[in-house]
Amino acid sequence: MPTYIVLLGPPGAGKGTQAKVLAEKFNLPHISSGDIFRENIKNGTELGKLANTYISQGELVPDDVTIAMIRERFSRSDCVNGAILDGFPRTPAQADALCEMLKEFDGRVNLVPFITAPVEVLIERLAGRWTCRTCGRVYHERFNPPKQHGICDADGGDLYQREDDKAETVVHRIEVYQKQTAPLIDYYKERGVLAEINGFAPIEEVSAQLMAAMKH
Ligand code: AP5
Repeated sequence: MPTYIVLLGPPGAGKGTQAKVLAEKFNLPHISSGDIFRENIKNGTELGKLANTYISQGELVPDDVTIAMIRERFSRSDCVNGAILDGFPRTPAQADALCEMLKEFDGRVNLVPFITAPVEVLIERLAGRWTCRTCGRVYHERFNPPKQHGICDADGGDLYQREDDKAETVVHRIEVYQKQTAPLIDYYKERGVLAEINGFAPIEEVSAQLMAAMKH
């Protein structure tokens, strides 16, 4: 049976950090809608140009555009055994679309770890986040610093700060999350797959909670 995990939580909760841990541990692809958008922005594609008008303002990219992009990603053969989804779905319409997509693989969403942390912690984490330009690995200048300033431990790539991590955009992203994405907490609770994870703990402790949730 394929295993599809959806990481849910506000910006800065640690979804990307933990998605990488899970993907490595279970040898599943890590599908991050934000990373796919950023790759398109970097490459100057039409999708990237459109997405950037929303991302730079801290708004969600429209559902039809996002769903089509993820459907394309799911058409690749590496998703048949499962995937770790990070940042998708983010609205009930996206969650319904995902459910339909997974039926094609005889799959379903098996687990939704919902990672939370207080708002002031989210803001602090995003303000100090540095991301590798080549592999997308994330660091934090205080909580998870690279061995060498500005250089990725994994592949030596340059580290950069995301444009949408500016303080005013972060506050808006959190508001957008509350309004448009938080309804997914009940959506998945009703389906019996939600697992609450305390994200206000050291990275290794959050990973341990996720491993425990995977065993149930
Ligand atoms: P996206 O890239 O998905 O961003 P996000 O959901 O806002 O989440 P983040 O990447 O900011 O945070 P994270 O939870 O992954 O935290 P991380 O692990 O990096 O989306 C960006 C934009 O794209 C959206 O605003 C939207 O416009 C668009 N978009 C994307 N998907 C979409 C969709 N489905 N529909 C419509 N639009 C979409 O950690 C953050 C920092 O904290 C790091 O520095 C990390 O090192 C540190 N950290 C992590 N865990 C811990 C810990 N336990 N203790 C201390 N520090 C920690």
